[in-house]
Amino acid sequence: QDEPAGRACGKVILLGEHAAVYDKHVLAVPLPEAIEARVRPADGRSRLRIPAWGVDEPVVPGRRGSSAAVATVALIMRELHVAERHYDIEVDARIPAAMGLGASAAIAVAIIRAFDLQLGFRLDNRTIDTLAFECEKLAHGTPSGIDNNLATYGEPVLYTRSTASRTKPIQLSEVPPLVVASSGKRGVTKDMVAGVAKRYASNQTLYDTIFSEIDELSVAGSVALRDADYESLGSMMNVCHGFLNAIEVSTPELEKMVHIARLNGALGAKLTGAGGGGSIVALCPGRSHDVAAALKKAGYAIIRFSDS
Ligand code: MEV
Repeated sequence: QDEPAGRACGKVILLGEHAAVYDKHVLAVPLPEAIEARVRPADGRSRLRIPAWGVDEPVVPGRRGSSAAVATVALIMRELHVAERHYDIEVDARIPAAMGLGASAAIAVAIIRAFDLQLGFRLDNRTIDTLAFECEKLAHGTPSGIDNNLATYGEPVLYTRSTASRTKPIQLSEVPPLVVASSGKRGVTKDMVAGVAKRYASNQTLYDTIFSEIDELSVAGSVALRDADYESLGSMMNVCHGFLNAIEVSTPELEKMVHIARLNGALGAKLTGAGGGGSIVALCPGRSHDVAAALKKAGYAIIRFSDS
């Protein structure tokens, strides 16, 4: 525990997932204190440990059956020109894997920062973000870059892939009253994005219309978020969830969670991230306790919770 920790945020998408892959706007806020990583020189071969996820594996580039996290570490070590050296990499994960909360990008950023601290490179955030984006490509093929942006900068953003280098954080006057709950079912981003791509290819005009609508929701939602206009933002989240259902990334479980949240006072509730499992986010001014309690009673894990 004596090595300095590299840290990274997770993310919660409020509006715009999937459309983001088609260069549309996506609105997201950080999940602070999500991942910490420490790197120390080792004698034998390099090893990755993520105790909270049951990962304890040697880092052997290209080895069949290695986890995605090991592939990420191997890529980072190669890009930082330390692939020939040996390290113990220890990760403290405070968010679950494959729950739509940006854990894979956060792991990448925290590990890059831990190597940076260990080796004294003094990498700037843009370099860290770019390398984490390469890791995301490895993990899910055609990422928009929203996850590595949030992991690196940890600030609320309205983001598009095409203007990524000019993304400015949104200044919030208060912490939005959000409840984030996980279904406990893994959602595999790569598969969900591939499924949408397949349906997009056979329904291009229809899907372009849906993505344009989602784009407008994200842009308008960023203003509502900034102004703490939760009535408007909540409605937009509900409509966005309808579109996500329409492009077939929701599940019966996510629908159930969304309904529990709305029945217990959420102004808006939707799946967040790639779907197919994973998590929901609910906007619940004055009702966060009720919504969190109802979701918990129904057997779902509360990941984050904030009240206004
Ligand atoms: C995943 O966090 C969000 C998606 O839009 C994929 C991406 O933007 O890279 C589903």
